[in-house]
Amino acid sequence: MKPSVPIPPSEITPYHLYLSRREFLKAAGIVSAGALLAAACGVQPSSESGSVATPVAPSVSAQTDELGDPLNTYEEITTYNNYYEFTTDKQRVARLAENFKTSPWEVEVGGLVHKPQTFGLEDLLKKFPSEERIYRMRCVEAWSMVIPWQGFPLASLLEAVEPTSEAKYVRFEAVYDPDAMPGQKSKFYPWPYTEGLRLDEAMHDLTIMATGLYGAPLLPQSGAPLRLVVPWKYGFKSIKGVVKIELTKFPPETLWNTVAPQEYGFYANVNPQVDHPRWSQATERRIGEAHRRPTLMFNGYEAEVASLYEGMDLRRNF
Ligand code: MTE
Repeated sequence: MKPSVPIPPSEITPYHLYLSRREFLKAAGIVSAGALLAAACGVQPSSESGSVATPVAPSVSAQTDELGDPLNTYEEITTYNNYYEFTTDKQRVARLAENFKTSPWEVEVGGLVHKPQTFGLEDLLKKFPSEERIYRMRCVEAWSMVIPWQGFPLASLLEAVEPTSEAKYVRFEAVYDPDAMPGQKSKFYPWPYTEGLRLDEAMHDLTIMATGLYGAPLLPQSGAPLRLVVPWKYGFKSIKGVVKIELTKFPPETLWNTVAPQEYGFYANVNPQVDHPRWSQATERRIGEAHRRPTLMFNGYEAEVASLYEGMDLRRNF
């Protein structure tokens, strides 16, 4: 993965300014709801009904995570993205993904399960009520954000298909659509993007399938309409645009582990003591902050997840 490109502070609208601009525009009555979101994201809707997702007022239950750190702004979260299917340039993903079609959408859930099933997105939303989770996201490139997701525990979905006793791992596959995703024309990456978890990691309550953020449906750049979020692991595990989930007996191959196994392990737990071969993981840059901050073991979720790795050598199983 390339080193991250710093965002000049001038490019980021603080949340309060974003809100006041939005309130001003609303009071002035001069723009549609679609245009408001587009203004927030720095993208233009293609029509009044818009190809961008219908916006709602950003709605969250808290302004900080449980450690007291402020949420990143909607604008930061939706304009600085890693989504290699579109481009490796974080600040161009939103625009390139703007017209990506995320409906209709189906997810096939199968492999070592008693009740394989293909779910339409609406079925998923109906069957698994969404809840808010405010999580830190720590990219392996050493930048981070605090994001208020909406989603449901992956465990509920896996329970619905009833894994067999042979199932030990979960494989995730992202959408493959090179006509709509220009980055997939690159022969360097083994598309589609794939990821994997051990079954107990996948069943952990912190692991969610996200469908929204800040109270609005996910935009394409964030992995709409459905992405994985595993907050104690480096961000690359949180695969976007999921179309297939498969229970397996053996650890599945993953895109990053295939491309550079010496750099990206299967576990990819956030660990400030185990450096990336090309840079330190001891500190990180929170998007919107000037100074680096220490990286926390398991990204600050040690109390919840350390027991999953008891007795394992975390240097070897990185
Ligand atoms: N999922 C897919 N399908 N393609 C990607 O390129 N990038 C990963 C992850 N999920 C990626 C992906 C990486 S490296 C990170 S850090 C996070 O998505 C970034 O998520 P965000 O853009 O919502 O912050």
